[in-house]
Amino acid sequence: MLKRLSSISVHGGENRIFESVTTPIVQTSTYFFKDTHQIKAFIEGKYHHYEYGRYNNPTREAAERKLAALEGGEHCILFDSGMSAVAATILGYVESGDHVILTDDCYRQTMQFIEAVLPRFNVNATIVPIRDYNGMENSIRPETRLIFSESPTNPYLNILDIRRIAEMGKDHKVVTVIDSTFGTPYNQRPLELGIDIVIHSGTKYFGGHNDILIGAVIGEESVLSPIREYQRIVGGVPDPHGCYLLIRGLKSCAVRMEHVNASAMKVAEFLEGHSMVRRVYYPGLPSHQDYQLASRQMKGFGAVVTFEINGEWEETEKFLNGLELCLLAPSFGGPETLVTHPASMSYYSMSREERIKQGILDELIRVAVGLEDTQDIIDDLNQALNKCS
Ligand SMILES: Cc1ncc(COP(=O)(O)O)c(C=O)c1O
Repeated sequence: MLKRLSSISVHGGENRIFESVTTPIVQTSTYFFKDTHQIKAFIEGKYHHYEYGRYNNPTREAAERKLAALEGGEHCILFDSGMSAVAATILGYVESGDHVILTDDCYRQTMQFIEAVLPRFNVNATIVPIRDYNGMENSIRPETRLIFSESPTNPYLNILDIRRIAEMGKDHKVVTVIDSTFGTPYNQRPLELGIDIVIHSGTKYFGGHNDILIGAVIGEESVLSPIREYQRIVGGVPDPHGCYLLIRGLKSCAVRMEHVNASAMKVAEFLEGHSMVRRVYYPGLPSHQDYQLASRQMKGFGAVVTFEINGEWEETEKFLNGLELCLLAPSFGGPETLVTHPASMSYYSMSREERIKQGILDELIRVAVGLEDTQDIIDDLNQALNKCS
């Protein structure tokens, strides 16, 4: 009955107990049994009962059902942050001596987890340059457990050929994982392209209001079960109130995505025409390296637009300090337009030399377009750019 994404966003997965239109927040950490007969029936699997908050919760389950339905997966497991979801997915799958493959253009903490944490458990990784599909295939070994990728990427919004990676995984019997946070199920459908596991930082577009941290892992139960087992032991579950806010955010996600897809496109076009902008990175622009692939693979290109100021650090600072409407903050996917300066924000702990080697220039800016009027966002960027010449 619920065929289209905006209808699934609103009605999918809801747990409408007490005839409430919205799923209630079941704020409890544990559940009681009426007597020992009930315990026995529960243990024998004859009776559905909640047991303990780390294992499940009715509000969390509703959010998980809604997200699984939106992404087109059998099940979803929620975590207390996107990074918790990334870490649990990898740790659910690997043991000492195993190997994973990661594309080099990925969320910085994912890279840090794979490069700095996994070797402590004798798990090795090969980091392959994005678009080097042959290099990726040649890196697969008998002990390779996962191919972990991300698309679109941050901050350059590079696009991976998702189907090609999925086929490679199937050919070599290696589980494929994609962090689709920048994509969302509205703009791309990794499971339909053959990927095994989709990860999201629900902190972004799903929550949609810059007020929760949440993560999600979606796929068939057979591929999720090691991750579910890991979570049962270690935790990292979101609290019921956070799950409620996720459900609430998801209800408007389809319309928000439609709006930001259109708004960001206009912002990208505006930036491309401004004399104080050297270069714009947005997969919806024909000037983007992956424009053709993005146009085939995606329905929309999301809220994030990256650009280089036509200047150096000094001009970049003038631009950042000149903004009046947009806020200087990390993250994306919420109502407020957020502007990030990767060199002084997410990459501040790196030396300039190292940072530039990774492509993070002093004059690089990321704009996460929000829900304000598009013209107001453009006017603010325009007046700030005019101040830095
Ligand atoms: C692509 C991507 N993956 C994972 C994460 C981590 O998510 P969280 O901040 O919810 O832990 C982020 C956060 O910005 C991200 O952009």
